[in-house]
Amino acid sequence: MMFRGFLFCFLLYLNGGWCKRTQQIRSFPDGFLFGAATAAYQIEGGWYEDGKGLSIWDIATHTVPSPIKDGSTGDVSADSYHLYKRDVELMKELGIDFYRFSVSWSRILPNGFADKINQPGLDYYNNLINEMLDNNITPFVTIYHWDLPYNLQKLGGWTNPLIVEWFRDYAKILFDRFGDRVKFWMTINEPKQICYEGYGSDLKAPFLNATGIAEYICAKNILLAHAKVYHLYDESYRKIQNGTIGISLSCTWYEPASDTSDDHQAAVDARQFDWGQYAHPIFSNAGDFPAEVKQNIALKSAEQSFPKSRLPEMSAAEVALIRGSSDFFGINSYTTKLTYRDASLEGMYPVPSYMDDMGAVMIKDPSWTQAQSTWLQEVPWGFYKLLVEVRNLYDNPPVYITENGWSTAGGLLDEGRISYYRSYLTALLDALDEGCDVKAYTAWSLIDNFEWKNGYTEKFGLYEVDFSSPELTRRPRKSAHIYKEIIRSRQLNL
Ligand code: NOJ
Repeated sequence: MMFRGFLFCFLLYLNGGWCKRTQQIRSFPDGFLFGAATAAYQIEGGWYEDGKGLSIWDIATHTVPSPIKDGSTGDVSADSYHLYKRDVELMKELGIDFYRFSVSWSRILPNGFADKINQPGLDYYNNLINEMLDNNITPFVTIYHWDLPYNLQKLGGWTNPLIVEWFRDYAKILFDRFGDRVKFWMTINEPKQICYEGYGSDLKAPFLNATGIAEYICAKNILLAHAKVYHLYDESYRKIQNGTIGISLSCTWYEPASDTSDDHQAAVDARQFDWGQYAHPIFSNAGDFPAEVKQNIALKSAEQSFPKSRLPEMSAAEVALIRGSSDFFGINSYTTKLTYRDASLEGMYPVPSYMDDMGAVMIKDPSWTQAQSTWLQEVPWGFYKLLVEVRNLYDNPPVYITENGWSTAGGLLDEGRISYYRSYLTALLDALDEGCDVKAYTAWSLIDNFEWKNGYTEKFGLYEVDFSSPELTRRPRKSAHIYKEIIRSRQLNL
């Protein structure tokens, strides 16, 4: 009897092993789009050429001592300002359907204001767009990816409510000049990184570090600026230009570290602070900042003797303006964090802080595969859970994955990146099976580039850029060949 049981288990084991070796082919639905992304400051170079004005990243990288890990700048970077035709060749070689890039505000409007338009800046993007279209690559344009004109920063940047109008004026120029050919627009890339990392801490330019105050003022202004531009497009351009417009939010999955209700709530709070802060006002039926964010900040503000909550209020008209102001939910997602509630956090921060307001601690699980970037681990099930949560919370909006990618220290044989892309695309297919309405996937990044405070120490490119060669030679990594095959076949071979 025992022997028969053993034999049965052994046969099952053999069968399992055999099953694993059998190929499983999974297909992407018809019409699903594949792309790759970059951003202006990270790749263009030409920082002070042809009439371009200075941005906050030009100022940051030229500060002494440098706040950048390797002391580098984006002055030249991959020089896409001059080498854009080569970049389009890479897109063509990869076979991507679309390319997501951003426009540098200060290349179009050197002073930030719409008083003076820089013609060579318009020429550059016109040439890039035309070159792409000649090669059957659809342009996805991000209107703002972090390189604020320095002139506007001197006036407070995203903390000045007037930026809503400045941003609208700038976006209008892009619709007027490029909208005949650009049909996919993203207003703003990753508001949380702009607001929390740039204004509430010193992780990104302008390194304001006015924690617990400035990031919330920024959040409200970003939401209003985004919504104004959405409505501008919707009311004045959509009929003629027939495009679509949304926003890209950075969405990390926060998993409760244990089964306690405290840790579950901590994970909910972390999600709501991290991306719900922007998603809820735009995509939920209720609109406004999420209850978790409002309550936690109000409570902490009272404890700290602020006369009222540090989170700015939204009027009913503002709530209505922002609610529903996106045709799709752009998700930039990379990783997952374990989250727990820790009372020892109380009073840990001398000044009001986002972390303190949230009352949650986020950690990584040491067993997860680690990328070159400290914050990035491969956790595909977290990506799946995120997509299902977005479906559940916001009534299954159309989702574009506007960024997803993996960093290494360099080299052409990037097995880690291949494993990451394959596992995350599998998770995406699982989410599609669950009915999530995901329409597109964007790999970050097409080419190696300036990774903000980490300079050139972290490589995200499907194509390597040899920054030491005068030609800034681009070479495909192994992952580029794999991604190309996935796109060609519209299938994942597991
Ligand atoms: C998100 C940002 O949009 C992009 O600029 C950055 O390089 C990648 N994540 C990787 O950190």
